[in-house]
Amino acid sequence: MSANNTRTVVVTGASSGIGRATAAAFAAAGYRVIGTGRTPDKIADSDRVPGVDYRALDLTDAASIAEFTAGLGAVDILVNNAGESQAGPLAELPGDAIERLFQLNVFGAVALTQALLPGMRERGYGRVIMVGSMLGSFPMPYRSSYVATKAALRGFATSARFEESPFGVWITTVEPGQIDTGLRERRTKYLNEGSAHTADFTRFMAKLDEKQASGIAPEQVARTIVRAAQADRPHQLYAVGSNAPLMFAVRRVLPRGVMERLIAAAHGLRR
Ligand SMILES: NC(=O)c1ccc[n+]([C@@H]2O[C@H](COP(=O)([O-])OP(=O)(O)OC[C@H]3O[C@@H](n4cnc5c(N)ncnc54)[C@H](OP(=O)(O)O)[C@@H]3O)[C@@H](O)[C@H]2O)c1
Repeated sequence: MSANNTRTVVVTGASSGIGRATAAAFAAAGYRVIGTGRTPDKIADSDRVPGVDYRALDLTDAASIAEFTAGLGAVDILVNNAGESQAGPLAELPGDAIERLFQLNVFGAVALTQALLPGMRERGYGRVIMVGSMLGSFPMPYRSSYVATKAALRGFATSARFEESPFGVWITTVEPGQIDTGLRERRTKYLNEGSAHTADFTRFMAKLDEKQASGIAPEQVARTIVRAAQADRPHQLYAVGSNAPLMFAVRRVLPRGVMERLIAAAHGLRR
């Protein structure tokens, strides 16, 4: 029996993609895994990971978060993975869509983290992993709301890890690059009829979808998440996919203006 059997992991958004792969990776490593979805009863048998305890959680609903956390015992590792992808020119993003995105991608994850941190601190062990996005480090056009949510998540994590690490609780961010999941089919898109952005937006999104379809497998992100959780002192930031080591190395040496021009050129953007 693995020593990991004593640890409990919560993975939000475990019904598909990165969350599903992460739940599977922790289960395979011997952890007790609680996976969430808005409607766990509707998760297809083929998407269920044997041994994972599926529970209902809608991160846009405060009552659902309260009900979920009330029914949890001790949790050692929290993976804030659930999220929505959104695209559209900033000038045309409806306010309620931006609010929904922040509620799901940021405020829900923050509420869950706040609920679980005190118990982790009392027990002297905890890991919180925010699943951000490399877009948080390398912003792209038409993704402002999504980029902002992922940068906000990293901000909460990077700041609060100073507070909690003296108690053995480490908060870290994992930024995936392009990953081949169903996220792009579920992406919410906003573009006004007759928008001045139509041509650029359409070209950019087609290229983005193409890159995501040829992205790495979610299992690779899951391995990075498990590695981060198992580290004695997890790093502040992990990035995986989209040539992450090269991208971050280049960013360290190139002036911001040059980096911006390179990103624009790589995505066929007008400057
Ligand atoms: N795929 C990529 O290229 C990529 C790149 C960078 C970062 N990411 C990030 O990785 C995470 C997972 O993405 P993915 O690609 O695996 O996408 P996915 O397959 O669409 O998974 C999203 C998960 O979020 C859950 N979810 C959606 N709305 C929710 C809500 N209101 N409350 C609670 N859970 C909700 C979904 O579960 P139900 O629908 O069952 O509720 C689903 O399990 C996201 O945070 C995403 O931003 C993905």
